[in-house]
Amino acid sequence: MKIETILTPAELPALAQRDLRATACVVFDVLRATSTFVTALHHGAQAIIPVSEIAEALDWKKAEGRRQKAEMILLGGERNGVRISANGIDFDLGNSPREYTPERVRGKIIVSTTTNGTRALQACAKAKIVLAASFLNLAATADFLRGQNEILLVCAGTGENPAAEDIIAAGALVDLLSSGKNTHASKSANSTAARAAYVQAMLTNLEKSIGTSENGQRLLANPDLRDDVAFCAQRDIFNLVAAMQADGSLRKI
Ligand code: MLT
Repeated sequence: MKIETILTPAELPALAQRDLRATACVVFDVLRATSTFVTALHHGAQAIIPVSEIAEALDWKKAEGRRQKAEMILLGGERNGVRISANGIDFDLGNSPREYTPERVRGKIIVSTTTNGTRALQACAKAKIVLAASFLNLAATADFLRGQNEILLVCAGTGENPAAEDIIAAGALVDLLSSGKNTHASKSANSTAARAAYVQAMLTNLEKSIGTSENGQRLLANPDLRDDVAFCAQRDIFNLVAAMQADGSLRKI
């Protein structure tokens, strides 16, 4: 098993030039996109449609709303961390995983656009496998990946910057994948650095460590969103793998 890691969103455009047909990509946007998608799928959402732009989300809902009941489709996501309002339309959901309750999302298709997370997922779309991962479903994701030869961990970041929480989560996955029977896993320098960041974070405390990051600080400063940090720091509360399908949707497998 070979494990590579992309630490910063600056490296995402280059993925378009790369042949990922044999690669399993694992995208982390711990605060909060991938944590939110995993929560929604655990709570019974049918699918998440990750799109890059607000206009794409509106078009998708318009087009698909003609084919199926419009109330089955919810618009979700954020810009600057808060729920989107565009072209006179208020999105149904923001990007707080705590909003994605079973009552709200069961059976629904959620079209989501976020600043970094949905773009990172789309950048990996041509890979053999694309997973959305978080601390919430890390062990299930690791179990799923054990048979894979080439793994690329993708840290979505915050704006143009690397995000400590994504690197720590990627490092936690490197740790899981290179322990036990997999001690022979070959790790890139970035993967080793991510693992060291994870080990360091565990010496402090996971919630505290991710709370010191750029997006952690932004969320903690907002009384409505501050509890998202503690929520997203929970380890393995959901036993599911969130995988991209041929149609680009994320579903629980
Ligand atoms: C993103 O995709 O950039 C985010 O998940 C930001 C957020 O929701 O705070």
